[in-house]
Amino acid sequence: MGSHTVRRLAGSGFHPVVLDNLSEGHRSAVVAGDFIEGDIAQAELLEELFQRYRFHAVMHFSGRCYVGESMTDPLLYYRENVAKTLPLFETMLRHRVGRFILSSSCAVYGIPEQMPISEDHPCRPVSPYGQSKKYLEEVLQSLQESDGLRFIALRYFNAAGASQDGVLGESHHPETHLIPRTLRAVLGEGPPVVVFGTDYPTPDGTCIRDYVHVEDLAEGHVAALDWMEREARSEVFNLGTGKGWSVREVIDAAGEACGRPVPIQQGPRRPGDPAELVADASKAARLLGWKAQMPELATIIGDAWRWYQNPKY
Ligand code: UFG
Repeated sequence: MGSHTVRRLAGSGFHPVVLDNLSEGHRSAVVAGDFIEGDIAQAELLEELFQRYRFHAVMHFSGRCYVGESMTDPLLYYRENVAKTLPLFETMLRHRVGRFILSSSCAVYGIPEQMPISEDHPCRPVSPYGQSKKYLEEVLQSLQESDGLRFIALRYFNAAGASQDGVLGESHHPETHLIPRTLRAVLGEGPPVVVFGTDYPTPDGTCIRDYVHVEDLAEGHVAALDWMEREARSEVFNLGTGKGWSVREVIDAAGEACGRPVPIQQGPRRPGDPAELVADASKAARLLGWKAQMPELATIIGDAWRWYQNPKY
């Protein structure tokens, strides 16, 4: 998401400065702005960068984002996603950089009590990953009260797809997400895709998710930055399409996009997966003027398919 947003920001006349330790990201995915290899917990490096540049805002694209991994290694998530951010906040306060945009997640909500999920739904995360995002939102809230730091937390639903021109796409090792796994199974680069659970209380028995195009999410960051120029308060926003697709629908759509059968197996449920997660994205539409422009699964999967046939990194 960082690479898509950097590109989109540069297209709007901003000069992005990227700090990444490349533990998950790829140097060649940074196609605009300045790149500095380093860790956000390196206080001396941060100090040097905040002296060198006059930052308008800081956007944070998380350290780790796998629900399953966070269940088995929670400390990794509390360290990478929460503790390592504290030096960044300290440096921001010292240099009076007062705008922060957080990549948060629908994982902060936990097991949904109503559908679609609006921002005032209770936040009771069921994974350390979701909890780490909730902690970050709470730290930001405290800093707003103590120091007037303003923030926007963007609660992404399922980020998916690739850039429409095929320049940027996903490259995770190992890959855990449904759409990439499905496409790699079609290409014969991975095992058959396993459907995690067919006995959920949904129309076809498989989990429903709200897949939102990565370029729409990037646009959401620019809209959030614009909003911060106009408004003096902090906010949280869901970024989703408001439409859910089941695992079976995703696999069927992938089969159509690729024009080939998808090798598929049925498996048990994956621990920690809620049956359905769909955004009420009306607040972002009302306040940010943001609405997903590419909500159709066929578009999202078509773009991802183009990428996987010719990945650039
Ligand atoms: N799934 C399969 N087979 C697979 C992979 C996934 O059936 O091989 C299913 C999952 O069970 C889930 C759906 O496909 O129902 C989507 O799974 P993903 O792993 O692609 O995405 P998640 O919904 O688990 O994760 C997303 C974001 C997280 C966020 C989480 C909130 O990637 O960052 O939603 O629950 F925290």
